[in-house]
Amino acid sequence: MTLDAKLEELRRGTLAAFAAAISVEELEEARVEALGRKGTLASISKDFGKLSPEERARVGKLLNSVKQDLETEYESKKLRFEQTDLAERLAKEWIDVTLPAPGVRPGSLHPITQLQGEIEDLFTSLGFAVLYGPEVETEEHNFDALNIPATHPARDMQDTFWLSDGQLLRTHTSPVQVRGMRTLRPPLRMIAPGRVFRNEEVDASHEHTFYQLEGMMVDRDVSVANLTYFMKTLLSSIFKREVTVRLRPGYFPFVEPGFELDIRCLICNGEGCAVCKHSGWVELLPCGLVHPNVLRMSSIDPEEWGGFAFGLGLTRLAMMRYGIDDIRQLQGGDLRFLTQF
Ligand code: PHE
Repeated sequence: MTLDAKLEELRRGTLAAFAAAISVEELEEARVEALGRKGTLASISKDFGKLSPEERARVGKLLNSVKQDLETEYESKKLRFEQTDLAERLAKEWIDVTLPAPGVRPGSLHPITQLQGEIEDLFTSLGFAVLYGPEVETEEHNFDALNIPATHPARDMQDTFWLSDGQLLRTHTSPVQVRGMRTLRPPLRMIAPGRVFRNEEVDASHEHTFYQLEGMMVDRDVSVANLTYFMKTLLSSIFKREVTVRLRPGYFPFVEPGFELDIRCLICNGEGCAVCKHSGWVELLPCGLVHPNVLRMSSIDPEEWGGFAFGLGLTRLAMMRYGIDDIRQLQGGDLRFLTQF
């Protein structure tokens, strides 16, 4: 075969291969085979030396034109591939910028956190400090300094999670009373919201982990009247209406006298209903005047100072306020439940 014929065949064959290529890779393969360093065109050029100078000039021209044709066709087909690629991507990744943005789904505060925040705001406005004690407490803060000695039967009232180092998970927020008295010194007003732990069997109304909010005021001439005033202020603000309260005797070693504070049932206004078990009253929070021993154990002279303290069951109050009938829902982590608040 003459060189002319070889070149013509290369042109025809390669143009056909370019036309048949269905991807950039196939196109590139055909190009390398024809025009690459070890391609057909390169091997044809090797035979140039055998030609006469006139022939060489003529065939050289032909070679250049073949090369030119193939390169031009290669470039244009490559460009077409790139353009379809881009068109396909644009079609696939098309975004309707006129659609409304999805936006961030806002989170919300847990009902207990909401209630806690409201009570903190109220008491702050009444001159109370907000203290947060540790959840891992010493036996001394949780029991002894609250007039609950090791032998006292009141320790049985609280099933305690003891830690191996002798510390414990606080069973109430009352140890923060002790911390408050020792750091703030009288006269003082403080509240202490937080998590407490008891070794309880869990059911619809009992949790091993729940929230309390402690309150304490130590000053000169503090009386039950002061206690009643602050409790009425607190409850009216939470329930957004006037509430009637009554005190019944209640026993806690760190208060004397100690009370259970009841409110006139908000559902039936005292007429008697299922919520108040037909008594007209709902038990709400224990409280009392700070026991002299408790003041003394925090180096406060009971002759000079007196105080009141209360322990609000924050979890229970949240359940009452929002009509939640199963305590386990509060910490169940179910967003369908939580987003209602
Ligand atoms: N600490 C007590 C409890 O958890 C409640 C309480 C607090 C009682 C303050 C009186 C005064 O049971």
